[in-house]
Amino acid sequence: MIPENGRSEEEVLEELEKRLSLDLTFDSGKILGSMCTYPHPIARKVVMKYMDRNLGDPGLHVGSREIEREAIQMLGELLHLKKAHGNIVSGGTEANILAVRAFRNRSDVENPELILPESAHFSFLKASDLLNVRLVWAKLKKDHSVDVRDVENKITDSTIGIVGIAGTTGLGVVDDIPSLSDLAVDYGVPLHVDAAFGGFVIPFAKALGYDIPDFDFKLKGVQSITIDPHKMGMAPIPAGGIIFRKKKFVESISIPAPYLAGGKVSHPMITGTRPGANAIAVWALLNHLGFEGYKTIVGEAMKLSRWFAERIKSMSGVHLIREPVLNIVSFGSEKLGEVETILKTKGWGISAHRGYIRIVMMPHVKQEHLEAFLRDLRDVLSNL
Ligand SMILES: Cc1ncc(COP(=O)(O)O)c(C=O)c1O
Repeated sequence: MIPENGRSEEEVLEELEKRLSLDLTFDSGKILGSMCTYPHPIARKVVMKYMDRNLGDPGLHVGSREIEREAIQMLGELLHLKKAHGNIVSGGTEANILAVRAFRNRSDVENPELILPESAHFSFLKASDLLNVRLVWAKLKKDHSVDVRDVENKITDSTIGIVGIAGTTGLGVVDDIPSLSDLAVDYGVPLHVDAAFGGFVIPFAKALGYDIPDFDFKLKGVQSITIDPHKMGMAPIPAGGIIFRKKKFVESISIPAPYLAGGKVSHPMITGTRPGANAIAVWALLNHLGFEGYKTIVGEAMKLSRWFAERIKSMSGVHLIREPVLNIVSFGSEKLGEVETILKTKGWGISAHRGYIRIVMMPHVKQEHLEAFLRDLRDVLSNL
């Protein structure tokens, strides 16, 4: 119940401090299974300063809108697109929903179907439910990437689009996007790449010499990409990114918002009022860290992943699911459920899903945290 008379600021903050001590924090080094991390210091400053900016009413906050446009343009260029269309949205979920919505609205079929890998994120289930688009699941190959031949077999007159994943949620696998792009061009259907995680990893990993196939607008069939600054981009939550190759996709999902200060404003996103500060933080981060700054962050994460994968391979009682592609390493164990439960009681922020535990080498994860985790894992395994 709301108290009749307000409590003092000190009392309220004290209670919050006590109650939120239940939360795991990124600086504890215990969160190993999340794709989020602490926001970069410059992003914190930006959010504190500009948290009143509302991009839902860009006529009021013209400067913020301009900054968001520039951030989208920079992300587009990172993904080899000269002129980008899109927005900083609430996350990968919203970005994926918008892509499916645009594909559906641009198509002219009665019973729309979307073909996507079995490894796709559950946000597509939400998109399907909201948009009345039937999901057609394509099988995975032994290496956990999508079977392109199965995708081709599933294309019909009702197909509104294909999804490929550049950095799967569970294993960080990058699908064969060049072949999916060829299919998309051959059959005249748009390809959406879910690079919610990989978008802020692959360009930098490639520059470091890691052998990862092309995944972005360099490929003709790719019409839209999800790329999330609030994952490896180190932006504060919420900050997702949706980039379209062509304006027509954005137009197909735009709804007029006539009462707003900008007059002819239209909203292509799901949210109405939305945080300008987070989009401004994305712009600030891209400018402050630059390509080299992100390359250093990604380089450390990639190195740590290879080191951790070797340690898992040399340990008995666990097995590596596959060699890491990005900075995600997943391992299985015969008694996975028990291993997960005991590790959680020891305070580790991990979870088991699809037969493995996923460790994401985010910027807050350091070698000493992984060493402590491996010690606990060894203990757990020897006592089972
Ligand atoms: C590949 C992929 N797509 C989409 C999402 C959804 O992103 P969000 O949680 O920001 O909505 C995730 C989240 O982990 C993801 O891994």
